[in-house]
Amino acid sequence: MVADREIEQAVAVLRAGGLVAFPTETVYGLGADASNPGAVKKIFAAKERPHDHPLIVHIAEAVQMAAWAREVPAVAHKLARRFWPGPLTLVLKRAAGVNDLVTGGQDTIALRAPSHPVARALLARFGGGVAAPSANRFGRVSATTADHVRREFGAAVECVLDGGAAEVGIESTIVDISAAQPTLLRPGWITAQQLEEALSGKLALPAAESPRAPGMLARHYAPQTPLMMMEADLLLELAASLARQGKRVAVLARSAQQPLVPGLTWIGAPADPAGYAHDLYANLRRLDQAGCDVLLAEAPPPAAEWFAIRDRLTRAAAGAPAPEAT
Ligand code: TXA
Ligand code: MG
Repeated sequence: MVADREIEQAVAVLRAGGLVAFPTETVYGLGADASNPGAVKKIFAAKERPHDHPLIVHIAEAVQMAAWAREVPAVAHKLARRFWPGPLTLVLKRAAGVNDLVTGGQDTIALRAPSHPVARALLARFGGGVAAPSANRFGRVSATTADHVRREFGAAVECVLDGGAAEVGIESTIVDISAAQPTLLRPGWITAQQLEEALSGKLALPAAESPRAPGMLARHYAPQTPLMMMEADLLLELAASLARQGKRVAVLARSAQQPLVPGLTWIGAPADPAGYAHDLYANLRRLDQAGCDVLLAEAPPPAAEWFAIRDRLTRAAAGAPAPEAT
């Protein structure tokens, strides 16, 4: 785990305008002092992220919402009480003076109080808000271990706090409560049903035209290897057919049993959604590194607790060119 001394060093790096990668319960974040524009700029440079994609500001306590949002409606308090610290991000109307780099020039601000003890210690000791996207290059698979972060950024990130493998494994649920009706912007481990229960009301789905969250861009969370998602029977057929043609095929299976086909790189993922999400990005990274021509992922079941996982796989597959299958 992380010693107090390392937290102190990380706080010093943040205060000096540097970047600190840190664990959260969802994925690792690449953090900078959210009130220091020069520091926030470094995040965009390291990630090669377009500037109009806003960042989440991480805070230690719900009371800090008032420093970043000009209005903190009752629903914000309600959701924070129920789900913070935890894997939920709230989008609120931004306060005056919040740096445009953080908000992507929008009138709203995304806030989250993570539950990982290292993130909590860092945020509490730092005292301010830490702007942090997932610690991966833009459009790529998120990092769920400190090792992933180091491989992604090398020396470009001076301080990496190692808090072990992220427990949840996929990014936070994002809900926009800046307008009259709460809107689900990104599905995550906290489900729409849980939110609707807490709100005693319905969530709206985002309007299709404006991808305000890059996680909402069709192609995101993508490995380099073209990925296709399909049901187990089709997957087995296609894998065998491609292998016969001499293609190198990587498979992320869930229920399918590995067939006796030579040349397949095969990972059998956990059958339960929590285990599956926990391993998802590490599995995608491993399969991606196998240097295959194509990656076939078995479709998750159509159940609510698999919804966020299906969302990530769908986005990872979007725009991938289909291999010439027969
Ligand atoms: O679990 C997580 O949320 C992780 C950890 C590190 O906290 N962070 C994360 O950050 O996934 P990032 O930047 O990869 O994704 C944040 C998402 C983006 O899709 C961004 O567009 C959206 O949050 N976002 C940030 N500010 C927003 C705003 N004001 N309105 C709408 N979406 C916003
Ligand atoms: Mg991301």
